[in-house]
Amino acid sequence: MRRENKEKKEQIIFSGIQPSGNLNIGNYIGAISQWVKMQDKYHCIFSIVDYHAITIKQDPNLLRQRIIEVTKIYLAAGIDSQQSIIFQQSTIPAHTELAWILNCYGAHIADLNKMTQFKTKAGEHQETVSVGLYDYPVLMAADILLYNTDLVPVGEDQKQHVELARDIARRFNNEFGEIFKIPQPVVRKDGARIMSLLDPTKKMSKSDDNQNNAIALLDSLELAQKKIMKAVTDSGSEIEYDLENKPALSNLLTIYAILGNREIPRLVKDYRGQGYGKFKKDLAKVVEKFLHNFQEKYNNISDNDVRQILEEGRIKAEALASQKLSEVRKLIGVR
Ligand code: AMP
Ligand code: TRP
Repeated sequence: MRRENKEKKEQIIFSGIQPSGNLNIGNYIGAISQWVKMQDKYHCIFSIVDYHAITIKQDPNLLRQRIIEVTKIYLAAGIDSQQSIIFQQSTIPAHTELAWILNCYGAHIADLNKMTQFKTKAGEHQETVSVGLYDYPVLMAADILLYNTDLVPVGEDQKQHVELARDIARRFNNEFGEIFKIPQPVVRKDGARIMSLLDPTKKMSKSDDNQNNAIALLDSLELAQKKIMKAVTDSGSEIEYDLENKPALSNLLTIYAILGNREIPRLVKDYRGQGYGKFKKDLAKVVEKFLHNFQEKYNNISDNDVRQILEEGRIKAEALASQKLSEVRKLIGVR
């Protein structure tokens, strides 16, 4: 028993979010809420992955502001900077350097051609989007592999990228010996894919043009309430969890359960015969309460606190990353 605990403490977690768009409750439920729970058990490293964000055009001033904003969101959600390392990706050049090396060793064109996120994001413009957008999963592999990461907690949509990181690590290891740990994705059972409020076939996304699809973590309480009341529901009137026939309602039930700390079967029982109207009103209250508590914490964090935390994180992460990178440089023969 003791040994098992000790082993857990030694495991390393790495994850990150791009400072693009307004972070929403999907990001919180799918990713950040998992991270908070993992802090006690594992060594955690959480990054604000700004070099991933620039694979799509960003306004420089807005990007600068969002790097601070995402850091505050991590902290307000309960990531503890004493316990976990929080850092900004671009402040550690080892990430882009290892990505380049992995481009040459381990990453194949055929892998990148399979990435569904690239296909969705590039859409009709596959030939004219940036090379960075195409190569994005290799930078993500570098992020993960630099830190001997065991586990990568992400939402469902990122699983394929973590699997690619595994393939790249294996290929590199086959050629040069056991240098990279093989990471594993961790995806939560419920809530790994929160859907849009207006279209339950689409994921709730922070880069969506129509902001009514998502509830941002920094939305005003009034706006959040309006968005819930406008959320689409399915035909019928019974509150049921049925992904096939009632996808919109099932999504709302998942949000209710996770943000309100309730069990879905229990909610279904409690709302029997009550109709969608009452359910949505109550859900709006649950969301408002969650946002209120979250934003209270968020507003108490100053920009200076953030700068200091990112600098401390940079120093700690850099020490780990530079060690791995110098081993890699030697192996491939540039040192
Ligand atoms: P992104 O918004 O793509 O930068 O994603 C940041 C993190 O949030 C990743 O781990 C995603 O998998 C997760 N995530 C994004 N959107 C959702 C969603 N709608 N439901 C659950 N997780 C999500
Ligand atoms: N690609 C991830 C996303 O959009 C963000 C990310 C970059 C990441 N590097 C990572 C997540 C490393 C986990 C581990 O959500």
